[in-house]
Amino acid sequence: MKVPVSGACRKSRPGFERIGKKQSAPEVLKLIRRFGERSPPKLIVLCGPSHSGKSSLANKLRGRFCVISSDETRKQVTGCPVPCGREREIWKAFDSLKREALKKGRDVVLDACHISKRARWHALQGATGHYDKMCIVFDLPWHVIHARCLGTKRLPVSEAERMWRAFQELKPSRHELKLQRYDEVYFIKG
Ligand SMILES: Nc1ncnc2c1ncn2[C@@H]1O[C@H](COP(=O)(O)OP(=O)(O)OP(=O)(O)O)[C@@H](O)[C@H]1O
Ligand SMILES: [Mg+2]
Repeated sequence: MKVPVSGACRKSRPGFERIGKKQSAPEVLKLIRRFGERSPPKLIVLCGPSHSGKSSLANKLRGRFCVISSDETRKQVTGCPVPCGREREIWKAFDSLKREALKKGRDVVLDACHISKRARWHALQGATGHYDKMCIVFDLPWHVIHARCLGTKRLPVSEAERMWRAFQELKPSRHELKLQRYDEVYFIKG
């Protein structure tokens, strides 16, 4: 399955930006795994609406990376797999799990939508200066999300569309990600 990806920027060379050629999903995984091999600990922030493929990617990184998932945290806190309130409690638990893993120097993947700028700001809190940071932005067209949503039947299409539209308005720009001093950024467009 081809997943086109573009874009990478590094804080080590201010102003440097490379637009990557289209790459397949296994190549993105390879990039992440290579990123994980280098020495300072890593924080990888996934960012995209429902059905964009965040958990599918995160699950392939389990073991090597400590994956912290908003859906799993929700299940742990509320016992309920779908949103059913207690959001403040859920995000507090998500944040604690992240900070604990970061404190231990683990390589961490944050599997949550991170749709708002505020959520993306929160994602980076607790990662000390020596953490290398990568952001993967899942910026897929509606027809792809729509087809996946019809396939999984786990969310009403209207809700998936509402999230996708919100993401179109609030998704991070390269400028925002540069200001947040990410070391590498990839946009999955497929
Ligand atoms: N690269 C891909 N190509 C084709 N199908 C994919 C791809 N990635 C994920 N999918 C499929 O899309 C559906 C949704 O994927 P996934 O659960 O990873 O999305 P998500 O972004 O984690 O959504 P949510 O925010 O609702 O948890 C799944 O059925 C998955 O198999
Ligand atoms: Mg998911």
